[in-house]
Amino acid sequence: MVKISPSVLSANFANLKKDIDSIKDDCEYIHYDVMDGHFVPNISFGYSILNDLNKICDNYLDVHLMISEPFKYAQNFIDAGADLLTFHYEAMNNNQEIFDFIHYLHTNHVDAGISIKPDTPVEVLLPFLDDIDLVLVMSVEPGFGGQSFMPIALDKIQQLHDLRNDRKYLIEVDGGINDKTAQLCKEAGVDVLVAGSYIFKADNRKDTIEALR
Ligand code: DX5
Ligand code: ZN
Repeated sequence: MVKISPSVLSANFANLKKDIDSIKDDCEYIHYDVMDGHFVPNISFGYSILNDLNKICDNYLDVHLMISEPFKYAQNFIDAGADLLTFHYEAMNNNQEIFDFIHYLHTNHVDAGISIKPDTPVEVLLPFLDDIDLVLVMSVEPGFGGQSFMPIALDKIQQLHDLRNDRKYLIEVDGGINDKTAQLCKEAGVDVLVAGSYIFKADNRKDTIEALR
C-alpha cells in the first residue's frame, strides 16, 4: 500500500501541535520542507523546529532539503531527528560529492533520498540507484505549496519503477497531489505520496488521507 507523507509546509505554524495531532495517526511519514531562499525562491524553517516536531510524533520524518550546500547542514538535521534526508541533485557539485553524501548519511544511520526538479531527467540518477533509499520526483517547481501537478512526473515515476528491478529504493512524488493525481501516480508505480494543501485545507483530514490511498 502507498505511504502518505503530509507536508508540514501547509500547516498552521502557530498551531503546529494541533495540526500534527490531526494527522499523525493516519499517515506513515511526515514531510518537512526546508527552503533557504537561495536554491528556491522561498524560506521555510530549519532544524530547530524539526527537533520540536520529533518530540510530538513518532512518524518517519521525511526531510526534503531544498537548499544549496545540503552537506553543510546535514548533521544538524540528523541531530534533530530526521529519518530520511532528501537532497536535490541540482544542488550538488558533482557525482563524487553525491556518493560521499549518501555514504555519510548511511554512516549516520539515516536514509538517503535524492530529488530531481521537473526539468531534470531520470537518467542523471542512474549512477546512484543502487545506493539510494528513495527518489523524490518533483511534480511542481520546488518552492511553494498549492501549485498544479505537472504530468511529466508520471513518466519519471514509470521510468523509475521500470528501472528498479531488485533495487530497494522507494519512489516518492511531491507537488499538486490530490485524489485524482494520486491515482495517476499510483498507476505509474509510486510508493510515497506527499500532499500539503490537499490534506491541511480539508475539513476532514482523516478521510482526505484515506482518499489518497
Ligand atoms: C514544494 C514542496 C512541497 C509542498 C507540496 O516545493 O516541496 O512539499 O509542500 O505542497 P502541495 O501538496 O500543496 O502541492
Ligand atoms: Zn517537499
